[in-house]
Amino acid sequence: MAMNLLHRRLCASRLWRRHMHDTVLPWALDGLDLGAVMLEIGPGYGANIPALLARTSHLTVLEIDDDLAARLRARFGDTITVVDGDGAASTLPDAVFSAVVCFTMLHHVPTAARQNALFAEACRLLRPGGVFAGSDGRPSAGFALIHLGDTYNPVRPDALPERLATAGFTDIDVDTRGPNQRFRARKP
Ligand SMILES: C[S@@+](CC[C@H](N)C(=O)[O-])C[C@H]1O[C@@H](n2cnc3c(N)ncnc32)[C@H](O)[C@@H]1O
Repeated sequence: MAMNLLHRRLCASRLWRRHMHDTVLPWALDGLDLGAVMLEIGPGYGANIPALLARTSHLTVLEIDDDLAARLRARFGDTITVVDGDGAASTLPDAVFSAVVCFTMLHHVPTAARQNALFAEACRLLRPGGVFAGSDGRPSAGFALIHLGDTYNPVRPDALPERLATAGFTDIDVDTRGPNQRFRARKP
């Protein structure tokens, strides 16, 4: 995946970590029981890892960018499992996770078909009753602007429930707040 320089700087910044920790994650995960075995798809620089570790006992992260995965392994390797790979086609086994989460990453998956494959993969990796949840930006001119020269394929919140249902999920809820959207769904 390509991230332009501005985007890389932002994602690696303390400001971004604070924004995710203080504002986005509390909203995106509000009221959810995530269980003891969690997977984050697309962790990037690891902005969400400390907050996720506070909510689960075992955290695995799946990152498509080898350099970022190596960086995460060096920084968090004692406390989490870092796997190199594609959230749309991983080699992880079926039905191991109580929760699969992803934040600010769906718009970096270049096609709708690949995003749909990621949703189906999240469903495959979850135990029955497990939760798929996360957040991303809503499509907007400003969101497009910071992705100049970068992958930009934002998900439309009004289309997301049907896409998650097609991937096999039930109890689907999609909500928007300001520039963001959050989703949660359950594997039957
Ligand atoms: C904008 S960053 C967001 C990082 C982090 N989730 C956050 O909220 O700060 C998007 C991340 O998703 C990763 N990514 C994109 N497509 C992916 C895929 N198919 N599978 C796994 N990771 C992916 C990128 O390499 C990048 O690290």
